[in-house]
Amino acid sequence: MKILVINGPNINMVGIREPGIYGKQSFSDLLTMLQQTAKEDQITIDQFQSNHEGAIVDTIQAALGVYDGIVINPAAYTHTSVAILDALKAVSIPAVEVHISDVDARESFRQISYAGKACFATIKGHGLQGYVEAVRLLEKKLSE
Ligand code: DQA
Repeated sequence: MKILVINGPNINMVGIREPGIYGKQSFSDLLTMLQQTAKEDQITIDQFQSNHEGAIVDTIQAALGVYDGIVINPAAYTHTSVAILDALKAVSIPAVEVHISDVDARESFRQISYAGKACFATIKGHGLQGYVEAVRLLEKKLSE
């Protein structure tokens, strides 16, 4: 099983950016957690992070025929990007949306998720552990 974890803008800054909201664990801690999960579950997890919307669209398109599932935190593009929603719909790869913070408890502009409309589940407010939960949800879904 091959899973692609996609992170949008500023997720590479976790641990530095607003630690009261996103926690003190770093992006490199996240990558380590994902590789540990891959090892434990005997699957492949690749990751991609970009601050550029088009690069995220390109990566989703390139995942077709390569990955069985996608975990995506589009970050700020969650709330604005129809292009990322359309790319997820175009490839139809089972996807789970993740947010490190509880977006529902924050500003009203964070309550809209375009990408989430193409995902079968959303995990929010569980910190970096939410990515591991998302991977395991995908594994469950893909083995059904
Ligand atoms: C985020 C929530 C978004 O509203 C924000 O723009 C981010 C991170 C999260 O993981 O909690 O950059 O997606």
